[in-house]
Amino acid sequence: NQLKIAVFVGSLRVDSFNRRLARAVEKLAPAEFAFRHIQINDLPLYSQDFDAAYPAVATRLKKDVESADALLFVTPEYNRSVPGVLKNAIDIASRPWGTNSFAGKPGAVIGTSIGSTGSALAQQHLRNILAYLDVPMLAQPEVFVHFKDELIADDGTVSNEGTRKFLQGFVDNYVAWVRRFVR
Ligand code: FNR
Repeated sequence: NQLKIAVFVGSLRVDSFNRRLARAVEKLAPAEFAFRHIQINDLPLYSQDFDAAYPAVATRLKKDVESADALLFVTPEYNRSVPGVLKNAIDIASRPWGTNSFAGKPGAVIGTSIGSTGSALAQQHLRNILAYLDVPMLAQPEVFVHFKDELIADDGTVSNEGTRKFLQGFVDNYVAWVRRFVR
């Protein structure tokens, strides 16, 4: 019984360290967890004018979220908060009013940055946003990865054994969390 996980990576950068972190998590998860990266790089900037006639790409995003069983957010920190591209995607999928596509889907957030705080403040802001959007979020473990020295390869291979074990702990808790909501 496959579980569909919608992955939001909060960076559009081709060589994003957060995308590598997402792949690392995917490698450590059981085979029933099918991860799909949600496309956000072609979304327009949200305008409330959309609500009268939602653009096709915005409707696609909403469908992508609605067809998923659970959510995984993997985000960098931009200026001590959530990158605009990610907030924009969340705003789009949360609207038109009364059709919040996220409602009730279990989620988790992790992230990495080249700064020593490892995206902690962005993650905290994201938790605030998702609480409002009725996403029950895994509380622990928090994953603030300080990215350095090619820690994670492009294919998601983690070079540091301690980091790999720590990420496995996160994945085990995430899997248990999602299974509380979806079987
Ligand atoms: C950053 N970066 C950053 N890092 C951090 O730890 N705290 C911060 O507040 C910021 N702010 C910030 C703003 C902007 C506009 C940029 C472009 C970058 C650095 C950031 O951690 C680094 O660029 C990461 O590599 C971004 O993640 P991806 O794109 O590699 O996934």
